[in-house]
Amino acid sequence: MDQADHASTLQPVRIAGTGSYLPEKILTNHDLEKLVETSDEWITSRTGIKERRIAADGESTSDLATNAARKALEQADIAPEDVQLIIVATITPDTLTPATACYVQEKLGAHGAVAFDVSAACSGFLYAMELAKSLIATGGRTNALIIGAEKLSAFVNWSDRNTCVLFGDGAGAAVLVPSENGGGRILSSHLGTDGRQTELLNIPGGGSCCPITIENADQQLATLAMQGREVFKHAVNAMKRASEHAIETAHLTAGDIDLVIPHQANLRIIDAIVDRLEIPKDNVFINLEKYGNTSAAAVAIALDEANRQGRIKSGDHILLVAFGAGLTWASAAIKW
Ligand code: ACO
Repeated sequence: MDQADHASTLQPVRIAGTGSYLPEKILTNHDLEKLVETSDEWITSRTGIKERRIAADGESTSDLATNAARKALEQADIAPEDVQLIIVATITPDTLTPATACYVQEKLGAHGAVAFDVSAACSGFLYAMELAKSLIATGGRTNALIIGAEKLSAFVNWSDRNTCVLFGDGAGAAVLVPSENGGGRILSSHLGTDGRQTELLNIPGGGSCCPITIENADQQLATLAMQGREVFKHAVNAMKRASEHAIETAHLTAGDIDLVIPHQANLRIIDAIVDRLEIPKDNVFINLEKYGNTSAAAVAIALDEANRQGRIKSGDHILLVAFGAGLTWASAAIKW
């Protein structure tokens, strides 16, 4: 189930630029009080979320992804036509096929890039990072654009208070390149999957096993279904273990981590993890109060905000860690 990535003699890889994009429309907890039987007090105390962004009608996942990607490419000083690889992590693709990454390639004008999607839910951005890193490390590519992008508002049951208060739309991106001097680089990473728990969190309908038909059209089967309490327990355990794995493989200790950028699902989950890792709360980046859970986009957006706010300095050690449907989990220790 677990797959460790050993520190190796391969070409080191660093992050050369980050970007993010959030749709303009804000949906507050008070707005949700008018849709379902809930309260700002319940949502805030159980999750930490105060508001989330909702994509405009006609704005698709690839639009969000493209906007985030442009900012990351600009910061990395790489022209779209020079991009060699585009990986979009998403569970809310524009269409089942082709991949959302193909739409992004066209919108960016990055026609020289190989483009495909990965589906690993909230862990997707870190799965994409691992794939891109490996392709650069082995000399297959000299740069890669990785994007986490979601339009979850299109796959939420807006009459289910158990889930609709949790999610939001957005996108984050990063550009990976070889680290020529070996200074800033991805030190270690770790991916894991447990396919025995697919029932805990899924979108049951709309795929080949349960197509949407006239007969079941009113059952909202193409929306997120979650056993929240169970997911919560798995999330804490898996993210703690994944964090420890990435830290140890990088030959660091928790005390060396300058900033943790965790998946932004629930403040109580984040608090439980950093308490167990004995990392001070000041060293944890949190923005879930503004955006809710944006699944594959969450770590990517937080990384970009931390970067642009000057929370990450050259030489800092940062820890990225995520958990999502699958179940999947992932972590990476990075020297900036
Ligand atoms: N407003 C008011 N009451 C609510 C709401 C709401 N929005 N939602 C649920 N409730 C009620 C429930 O019906 C329940 O009532 P009952 O006791 O009468 O049955 C009560 O609140 C408590 O429900 P719990 O599910 O026990 O609440 P909990 O404290 O576990 O919080 C939550 C729920 C926020 C979903 C939490 O379990 C959680 O964060 N789980 C993990 C989610 C996560 O991390 N997902 C990550 C992956 S997402 C992905 O991959 C796409």
